[in-house]
Formats: sequence, structure tokens, C-alpha cells
Amino acid sequence: MAAPTKTATLTIDGKSYELPLLSPTLGPDVVDIRKLYAEADVFTYDPGFTSTASCESTITYIDGDKGELLYRGYPIEQLAEKSHYLEVCYLLLYGELPTQTQMVDFETRVTRHTMVHEQVHNFFRGFRRDSHPMATMVGVVGALSAFYHDSLDINDPWHREVAAIRMIAKLPTIAAMAYKYSIGQPFVYPKNSLDYAGNFLHMCFSVPAEDYVVNPILAKAMDRIMMLHADHEQNASTSTVRLAGSSGANPFACIAAGIACLWGPAHGGANQACLEMLREIGTVDRIPEYIKKAKDKDDPFRLMGFGHRVYKNFDPRAKVMKESADEVLGLLGIHNNETLKVAKELERIALEDDYFVSKKLYPNVDFYSGIILEAMGFPTSMFTPIFALSRTVGWISQWKEMVGDPTQRIGRPRQLYVGAAHRNYPDVAAR
Ligand code: CMC
Repeated sequence: MAAPTKTATLTIDGKSYELPLLSPTLGPDVVDIRKLYAEADVFTYDPGFTSTASCESTITYIDGDKGELLYRGYPIEQLAEKSHYLEVCYLLLYGELPTQTQMVDFETRVTRHTMVHEQVHNFFRGFRRDSHPMATMVGVVGALSAFYHDSLDINDPWHREVAAIRMIAKLPTIAAMAYKYSIGQPFVYPKNSLDYAGNFLHMCFSVPAEDYVVNPILAKAMDRIMMLHADHEQNASTSTVRLAGSSGANPFACIAAGIACLWGPAHGGANQACLEMLREIGTVDRIPEYIKKAKDKDDPFRLMGFGHRVYKNFDPRAKVMKESADEVLGLLGIHNNETLKVAKELERIALEDDYFVSKKLYPNVDFYSGIILEAMGFPTSMFTPIFALSRTVGWISQWKEMVGDPTQRIGRPRQLYVGAAHRNYPDVAAR
């Protein structure tokens, strides 16, 4: 980055401090406050990080006002139309689109790592038989560091590369195994003749007793879901991965931390919560009751699948996902089941309602992805694992970017302490 030419001035008690203004390739300038504490003896306060850039990155750019999402500069709409998930993985990991030879090599490397060590099967069997697949995934991905000692040295670029490929390759296998385990079916080994998305469908839906043929339209829709979820700059789970990694933790542990964070209903868990909400609403005539609850300040209820911290115009992923939903539902002949009717009417009302319009609350990616995944035959408990396996490439790209940066330091926020001031320890009888 070029040396800053602009500065911002902060005045505290009549004393002024010059702070460099950094100019990004895209987006607003950033005030560099790194030396503020040392020079002015103050911290900044920004819970929720609404005004704070936590790192420098070259991977993903979001313009929330325009509703724009770029992976390495390429608009998500172009990638969704022309690219495919593994190509996007290459782009996110290495910064450029691959040549044909590079693509073949990358696909071969990923394909060769799709199986998990056979002992991982035993590890799975320690979980309760009806465990939520996300609970299983957090545990199994964390445990990978116990199985793959040969890719744990974060200071070795080759170890970092192997760990990245392993995770991109194995996450679909682990997610499918978590699903199979939760429904009591045998694990299905990956089939490397299939493409990435088709292989995932195969591992989820085939059983040894019958032949299973992957529907290419459903595989394409799955590929698109994966692509739309591949990265989203410094969201909660990615920031978790970076923070965990900043201490030097191994990559498998960092991705497990990201999966744990993603599970929350305000983040990746929203796709499951959204479909469950649509089912709970049940019929169109009950929508006003739920809209009323969503507006009530004393009611914690929120319309799941609506709103976003950054997108204040529309979520470009939701736009592509909506088109995909129409395609998949058309293919499967699902035209007007009750959940779909509720979803369509809820979307219509919320887009016109003053509360949602004034607060800029639009349907987000999770509103439509659940509809497609349900139509494909996935139970709601698999929605967030699919988000997790798709986001793995984003997490690992961000982690690699951070670890490869020689100026990287441990992440250590400060606080605004509002607890008790100094006091003396009282004897138990005096309390
Ligand atoms: N339903 C009703 N009201 C809402 C909603 C909602 N879904 N989302 C935000 N609001 C209201 C909120 O009550 C607040 O009102 P007021 O200003 O009167 O206090 C205002 O809008 C701003 O909300 P906020 O909580 O300050 O916004 P945030 O940026 O901290 O939260 C969010 C963003 C996505 C967590 C939130 O919109 C939400 O909880 N949405 C539902 C969960 C969801 O769909 N999450 C998936 C996000 S997209 C996938 C991903 O990348 O993770």
C-alpha cells in the first residue's frame, strides 16, 4: 500500500494528534489508530466492530450500499453465471483465475484428499447417534489436527498449502458423514469421478443398497450455493478464524473455531432458523402476527433470513439464490407448497412494510438457500453444515493471507472497563 498522504486530526483536551488516513483500492478511507494509545493514552470503543477494520485484505470486497460483492475483484453475479465452485476456490486461495492446466492440477489435488483417515470413522462413533451435524463437525474438524500431524507447522508454506487442500477436500466428506451418522445410515465414501458438488450429493443421498444417479441440475444448484457462500470478508466466523490463528494455533483448530461461530442463528445458523420459522408460521394468514412480533421492541423475535450488518440495499447473493430457487423448484415440480407460499408472501409484505423498509431489512442469502436445500431433500439440520463446508475455502484463504503476512501480530482487543474500582478483600464473616 502507498504511504498515506492524508491525515485525520483528533483533539483531546486541547492537544491534537495527527492520524494517517489509509486509502483502500475500493471503499472508504481508514483512520490508522495503531499508535493512538502509545501517543495519546486513549483507546477507541467500537463493540460489534461497526466502524473498525481489523486487518488488511486482498480477498473479498463488499459495498453494502450498492449491494456489491467481489471475490478478488470479480463480481459474484459473473462468477455465479460463468464459473464453478472449485475455480472460485482457486481464485480465493491464490488470487487469480486458473489456466486450464492449473485447474486440472488443482482439481486433482483436491480430489486426492477427499477421503478421511479410516480412524476418523471411529471418532465419529463416539458422538450420540442423534447429534446435530454441526456439533459433530466442530468436534471432527478440530480433531483433524490429531490425525494430520504432517501439515501443522504454520511457519512452513508447504504445510499451510497441504492443510488448505485437505480442508477444502475433506469438509464435504465430513459434513456428509455427520448427516449419515445423524440418521443412522452407513457412511458413503467419496466418488472421485464426480465433480465437487455432485460428489457431496452422492455422499449424502446414496445408500449401498441402491444405485444413485446425481441429477446434474441439482448438482449445479448445489455448486452455486457453495460459490455464493465461499467468502464474505471479515464476518463473525472469519474474524474468529483470524483471531484464533493470530496466536499461532493450527489451521484445523482455527477452522473448527470458525464452524462453532458460524452455528449461531444471527450468522450461518439463520438458514435453519429461517426455514423453521416459515414452518412455524405455517399459513399465510398468520404472517401479520409474526410481523407484529418482529416489530415489537419487547419481543426478542426477529424475522430470520432478513437484515444484514453490511448490506443496506440488497444482498447480491440473495438475488442469485432466488433465481436458483425458482429453477430448482420448477425442475422438481414444487410450485406452491405451504412453506413456499409463506416465504413468498412474507417477502412481499416485508419489502413493503415501513418498519423493514426504513431499517433497510431485506431478505438475505439465508432466506432463499433453505428453500432450495429443503427442495433437494436436506433436513434443516444440514443447512448450516452446507454453509460451513462452502465457507471453508474463505476461512482458509483468509487464514493463509494472515499467517503469510510478516507484520501479523496476535489479535488482542482492549476494553472499556466499567466494573468495580480497587477495593479491599473482606473477611468472609464481614460479607
Ligand atoms: N427482524 C426484525 N428486526 C430486525 C431484524 C430482523 N431480522 N434485523 C434487524 N432488525 C432491527 C433491529 O431490531 C434494530 O432495530 P432498532 O434500530 O430499532 O433497535 C435494527 O433493525 C438494526 O439491527 P441490529 O441488530 O443493530 O443490526 P446488526 O447489523 O447488528 O445485525 C443481523 C445484523 C443479520 C444479525 C440481524 O439483521 C439479524 O439478526 N437478522 C436475522 C438473522 C439472519 O438472518 N442472519 C443471517 C445474516 S446473512 C448470512 C451471514 O452472512 O451470516
